[in-house]
Amino acid sequence: MTAGITEDGAGPRARALDALDAARRRTLGLADCVEDGELTAQHSPLMSPLVWDMAHIANQEEQWLLRAAGGQDALRPEIDSLYDAFEHPRAERPTLPLLPPGEARGYLTEVRFRALDVLERARFSGTGRLLHGGFAFGMIAQHEQQHAETMLITHQLRRGPAALGAPPPPPAPSDVASLPPQVAIPGGPFTMGTDDEPWALDNERPAHRREVDAFHIDTLPVSNGAYLRFVEDGGYRQERWWHPAGWEQVRRHGWRAPLFWRRDGAGGWWRRRFGVAEPVPADEPVLHVSWYEADAYARWAGRRLPTEAEWEKAARFDPDTSSSRRFPWGAQPPGPRHANLGQRHLRPAPVGSYPEGASATGARQLLGDVWEWTSSDFAPYPGFIAFPYREYSEVFFGHGYKVLRGGGFGVGSVVARATFRNWDHPVRRQIFSGFRTACAPACRDCG
Ligand code: AVJ
Ligand code: FE
Repeated sequence: MTAGITEDGAGPRARALDALDAARRRTLGLADCVEDGELTAQHSPLMSPLVWDMAHIANQEEQWLLRAAGGQDALRPEIDSLYDAFEHPRAERPTLPLLPPGEARGYLTEVRFRALDVLERARFSGTGRLLHGGFAFGMIAQHEQQHAETMLITHQLRRGPAALGAPPPPPAPSDVASLPPQVAIPGGPFTMGTDDEPWALDNERPAHRREVDAFHIDTLPVSNGAYLRFVEDGGYRQERWWHPAGWEQVRRHGWRAPLFWRRDGAGGWWRRRFGVAEPVPADEPVLHVSWYEADAYARWAGRRLPTEAEWEKAARFDPDTSSSRRFPWGAQPPGPRHANLGQRHLRPAPVGSYPEGASATGARQLLGDVWEWTSSDFAPYPGFIAFPYREYSEVFFGHGYKVLRGGGFGVGSVVARATFRNWDHPVRRQIFSGFRTACAPACRDCG
């Protein structure tokens, strides 16, 4: 059983309204800070033009909230295929007859206006799975938040002067020096996945018992300072630390450090963040590393990446009650004291921040800050059923995607829970990815 799932004070309707609203503020914030010409430009072949994300967000909302939930006819059936992610690869999207920025904005507004009307009238029980507990609304808010993060990645890849403002810095940690470097997670079964989290997506279901041997995991994400020791030790020049496919990437692309890092003439390291150059801050979680780099660092450090099950057990398992929590700290939804989410700071907080967000065993920053690579391939849980559409998760199983966990500073809290699963190709590093490492309890380095 999952401990302590309670209603969030507000009912599902109010929660849906809040979540949709928060997502839209992100989408519009990321669109309004650049000229229209920047919305239609392709800033990287890895990404869509921002104007594609905008209308795609509206189109998904139309399909699920207006048509499926509201029983309405298509507003613009002729554009569905333009915004179908499977019909057109990202690199090709700028060549499509996309809605221009003004129309994309109008489409977002029109769909939302109608969706709020559907929300007001909807019944959330006795209505079938799509509406049960407000699921469709939660799903669409999560979809928009994930695209807001995608748009933020596009901003990070974009060249030219900074467009995003400078929000207040995240809180600084106070007690890092006194933290143990690792926490011990006891062996035995735990509940992985969920049945009773109302807005959990299909790939998080069903809840099932998972046997996990005892292990140790880093209390904190790996910092830039720690990662820099790997770089300076010649980590990128030594094949022995690398997965063969990772070594191939290092050679082919000349990787020498995380993406966006540059060495200056004096041997110092700088990085570019949303158009602004700054010295690499030693105490921040490392960001913009591929799975291969995370894997190589872990091997160099005499450790390994945690499996997905280990990560989730570290994030949820309370040894005192032998039950799985909803969030590392308990059942209370994420607030600004728990985790760095929602583009509030536009950067990860220094390692050791958010003591109130610690897990039962004392690990910190499991949710928020940076997405964390795990060693696991993205695969279905036993008893998986695709819902409500196969293209959310099912079509990605078995294609070499690696699982990332925990959520980053770029996604809203509607996407942050201990069961949420993200995935990407192991070569990707434009995403807001970092990691922490694990080992067996008696490994050489931790005794
Ligand atoms: C779960 C982040 C890999 O962005 O491709 C967005 C989320 N799915 N629209 C992605 C998603 C459909 C997905 N990731
Ligand atoms: Fe999408």
